[in-house]
Amino acid sequence: MENTFLYQSGFCNDFASEALPGALPATQNSPQKAPYGLYAEQLSGTAFTAPRAHNRRSWLYRIRPGAMHHAFEKVSQPLLASGPFTQVDTPPDQLRWNPLPMPADGQAVDFIDGIVTFAGNGDAAAQAGMAIHLYAANRSMHDRFFYDADGELLIVPQLGRLLARTELGVLEVKPGEIVVIPRGMRFRIELPDGSARGYICENYGAAFQLPELGPIGSNGLANARDFQAPVAAYENREGEFQLLAKFGGKLWTARIGHSPLDVVAWHGNYVPYKYDLSLFNTINTVSFDHPDPSIFTVLTSPSDTHGTANVDFVIFPPRWMVAEHTFRPPWFHRNVMSEYMGLILGAYDAKADGFTPGGGSLHNCMSGHGPDAATFDKASSATLAPHRIDNTMAFMFESRYVIHPTPYALATPLLQKDYLQCWHGLQKHFNGQP
Ligand SMILES: [Fe+2]
Repeated sequence: MENTFLYQSGFCNDFASEALPGALPATQNSPQKAPYGLYAEQLSGTAFTAPRAHNRRSWLYRIRPGAMHHAFEKVSQPLLASGPFTQVDTPPDQLRWNPLPMPADGQAVDFIDGIVTFAGNGDAAAQAGMAIHLYAANRSMHDRFFYDADGELLIVPQLGRLLARTELGVLEVKPGEIVVIPRGMRFRIELPDGSARGYICENYGAAFQLPELGPIGSNGLANARDFQAPVAAYENREGEFQLLAKFGGKLWTARIGHSPLDVVAWHGNYVPYKYDLSLFNTINTVSFDHPDPSIFTVLTSPSDTHGTANVDFVIFPPRWMVAEHTFRPPWFHRNVMSEYMGLILGAYDAKADGFTPGGGSLHNCMSGHGPDAATFDKASSATLAPHRIDNTMAFMFESRYVIHPTPYALATPLLQKDYLQCWHGLQKHFNGQP
């Protein structure tokens, strides 16, 4: 089957793709009869009346409309939680977790069943805030399809590739890349490597967008041209399938007699996309001191307060450290924003040990954090020659709202009871002398 990427309009990033020649009507959204007997369906990711610069919608030309399925029933997925996160009081403690174990041999766990919610904030129904999930899976989804009405999914693979088969086409991502599935888009996940693990930011708020660049100029950080949308690819399959939905904070399932990934052609700007984090144009000091870590923002979900994100996706990629007369690791700080960190590979430059790939840490609003004692001592007397930090990729989901751990996250043996010890070795150096 030949897929064609027809055009990308210069206005509003409007994409178009068809899996069969002529399947996309050439001149209007809703002809009286669509080519190939397809049904036209609009998928709206913003209000119809959202300003043009933020308006996101796609037109799907599909074998059957999205309304064709049986009634939904609630299903239990005990480790999948949703905002509002009010089941347990949130301590101001700094928290850190070991990686989620892979499913045991003989246990069949697909991407949806493998989701474990660690924390979140806001309210899915109010479309503000986010949830932080980890996933560990060892089975591909074939006859199960999923969509999330509560938020868009920013998926950060840490182990194993994911093959995301979506309504608009197929995206394969490996660790070091991310994939974003828009709110409401139906998809299933295959595991080309047999198993996979990673992180998910379920963003209840405004869709992720590129941050403004201000005085940086028209290039830098994540460049728009490096984000890849799929080409149209459809399934023409019938059978006894399941359509899963996350809606209103709960998981639901409905019987469906065909694959909902039956979109033969589409156009629009409400699309899944992938991005290779190694293409991030990292900007940092070439003189002294540190810019704020916001310089590492890949994507931002704005809130109603200008400059104050619902959630930012920030990375700490390989980079040169050249600052003169500077303590180079991240400084000690307390932040009105709340920070969840994960590690895709390698080590993070503020911690000597304990923060391992697949693990996570949470430093909530105004909770002090920074380099551990070993890192502080080493960096305070290090020779300040140019130095390259290599083989590393940490990231942060940073939010204006306090991030509440789930009851599971506070009770699991993955929680490191001794995390605070990493700062207890910091010595008192003050003796009244300069
Ligand atoms: Fe921080």
